[in-house]
Amino acid sequence: MLLTSEDIASLSVATRNLSKGYDKGPLAVDSLDLSIRPGEVFGLLGPNGAGKTTTIRMLLGLLRPTCGQVFVHGEEITTGRQRVKSRLGVCPQETVLWPELTVSEHLYLIGRMYDVPGKTLRAETERLIGEFSLGEKRNQPTKRLSGGLRRRLNLAMALVHGPDVIMLDEPSAGLDPQSRALLWERVKQLTKDGRRTVVLTTHSMEEADRLSDRVGILDHGKMLVLDTPDVLKRSIGEGDVLEMELDRAPSSEAMEALRRHGRVEQQAATATTVSVRGLDIMQRFPGIVVALTSSGVVIRGTRLRPNTLEDVFLKMTGRSLRD
Ligand SMILES: Nc1ncnc2c1ncn2[C@@H]1O[C@H](COP(=O)(O)OP(=O)(O)OP(=O)(O)O)[C@@H](O)[C@H]1O
Ligand SMILES: [Mg+2]
Repeated sequence: MLLTSEDIASLSVATRNLSKGYDKGPLAVDSLDLSIRPGEVFGLLGPNGAGKTTTIRMLLGLLRPTCGQVFVHGEEITTGRQRVKSRLGVCPQETVLWPELTVSEHLYLIGRMYDVPGKTLRAETERLIGEFSLGEKRNQPTKRLSGGLRRRLNLAMALVHGPDVIMLDEPSAGLDPQSRALLWERVKQLTKDGRRTVVLTTHSMEEADRLSDRVGILDHGKMLVLDTPDVLKRSIGEGDVLEMELDRAPSSEAMEALRRHGRVEQQAATATTVSVRGLDIMQRFPGIVVALTSSGVVIRGTRLRPNTLEDVFLKMTGRSLRD
C-alpha cells in the first residue's frame, strides 16, 4: 500500500520499504511498510534474530537503513531527527545505566538532557519512582540494583521527558511476573488518551497478545502477517485446540480417524504430541479417544486451550516461536 503525504502526516510512525543489510548476509530487515497510529500499541513479535532491534534502531534514527524511509509524526527521521527527538522515548534491549549514579540521579540526568524544566522534572521523577516502585532504592547507586530493578529504572528513564512515541525493545526481559504485570498496566495506560504511541518488541506471544492493538509477526526480517491479535488468531481456524500427549506417535490410520473430528496438527510424523482443533471440540472428545485408543495408543495427558499467536507463527513458518 502506497502512503500519501497526508497519510504519513497523520501517523505517529510510518515506514516505506524499510530495509537493512549488515555486511554481506541476507537482509536483517526486509522491505517493512509500517503505519502506526497515535493511541496504538504496536507489537513486533518474532524469534531471536528476526530483526526487531534492527527495526527499532532504524525507527529511532540510530541506524541508517540500507534503503527505505522512516517518518515519525510526518517528519523523515534521518533529516528531521533533531526536531522529533524529544517526542521519542526509548527503552533499549540492553539495560544501560551509569553504575555510580543513583536511581533519582538517572531520571534527573535524562530529564536535563531533554531540557525538561526543573519543576516539571522534579514532579515527573517522583511520579515515575512511585509508579515503578523504586522508592526504597531512590538513593542507591545503580551498581547495587538487581537486574529487574535496573530494567524498571530503564523503563522509567524512557518516559521522564514526556515522549509521545515510546519504543520498548523487549521491555519485560528479566522482569518477575509482578513487575511484568505492572509494566503491562503502565503500557496500556500510556496510550489510553489516544495521544501516545507505543512500539514494543517481544518474543513472548502472551505479551504481544495482551498488550498490542496490532501485532506484526517478523521472521528473518520479513513481516509475515500484521493485524489485531484476534484477527490473527481467528485466521488459523475457529474453535479451541485439544492437545494430547500420547505414549507413541499415532499410526496413519489413527491420524485419518482423528481428522474426522477436526483439524489435526502434529509437528512431525514421529511426534507424540498431537492436537485437534475445531468448533465444539469437547463434544467430539469421546470419538477422539476412541480413534486413538482403538489403535492401541495410550493418552497420557490432555489440555484444552484457545488459539494463540504461537499457533499463528507455527502455521506461517512451520516452526515454533519457542524453539
Ligand atoms: N551490528 C550487527 N552486525 C552484523 N549483523 C547484525 C548486527 N546486529 C544484528 N545483526 C544481525 O541481524 C539480524 C537481526 O538482528 P536483531 O538484533 O535485529 O534481531 P532481534 O529480532 O532483535 O533478535 P533478539 O530477539 O535476539 O533481540 C540477526 O541475524 C543478527 O545477527
Ligand atoms: Mg533484539
